Amino acid sequence: MAASIKTAEEIEAMRVAGRLAGEVLDFITPHVKPGVTTGELDRLCHRYMVDVQGTVPAPLNYAPPGYRPFPKSICTSVNHQVCHGVPGDRILKAGDIVNIDVTVIKDSWHGDSSRMYPVGDIALAARRLCEVTFECMWFGIATVRPGGHLGDIGAAIQAHAEKHGFSVVREFCGHGIGRRFHEEPQVLHYGKAGTLDRFVPGMTFTIEPMINAGRREIRELADGWTIVTRDHSLSAQWEHTVLVTESGVEVLTMSAGAPPPAALVLDRLNRAPNLVAA
Ligand code: MF3
Ligand code: CO
Ligand code: CO
Repeated sequence: MAASIKTAEEIEAMRVAGRLAGEVLDFITPHVKPGVTTGELDRLCHRYMVDVQGTVPAPLNYAPPGYRPFPKSICTSVNHQVCHGVPGDRILKAGDIVNIDVTVIKDSWHGDSSRMYPVGDIALAARRLCEVTFECMWFGIATVRPGGHLGDIGAAIQAHAEKHGFSVVREFCGHGIGRRFHEEPQVLHYGKAGTLDRFVPGMTFTIEPMINAGRREIRELADGWTIVTRDHSLSAQWEHTVLVTESGVEVLTMSAGAPPPAALVLDRLNRAPNLVAA
């Protein structure tokens, strides 16, 4: 089955869901401080989504084939955790880096976005990994335009990560998104330009590179969800949901508090994406 092409009306609904996902990440920002537990961040986001936004947290009880139901409303992945970290009793301390991944459902449409948050002061190496991963995501986004290929995204991301001596996680990828959380196409974060399917206006998918400071190999913890680096090196991830437009790309998960596009890619973005705060 091929990627679904969204109608104008569906795209409008995806814009709403996308912005709401970004706004949860905005909301939680001031709470990410030394001493807070990942479980508290989950509780705060859950209440904001359900009580303030009237959205449904898509991760809660999400159970793809082969997985037990995810027990929480967001993912929190700390330090060498790559993705799908399960919120709980862990207390964040100064120097940690944490990815918070939020997926909301609004009027049956999904918006999916994640950011890295420093906890207090962090080491230069951690800051650099978070920055380069952010740039990787934007290099990927900047390749999206009708006529281009899905492989362009992965090639751009891989080149930038490896230029800095980092590695790209291969086992997880971006994904089509819409009425379903994960749909076609798969969006690889490594590969060759000019390969794979062509971008078509109306396609919506995520770009969410996971970049390791050390080797790319990963391992799953006994909780059945949390993914960690095998060599215990730090890992970072950023994620946006994007739309292929007639002229290029629109980022659906921008919000007032979202960091503006990486300066390095500004000249590559063939038109201004949906910049709310820039
Ligand atoms: N939000 C993740 C993604 O970007 C998926 C999390 S699945 C969950 O695709 F069940 F762990 F929430
Ligand atoms: Co995603
Ligand atoms: Co996500």
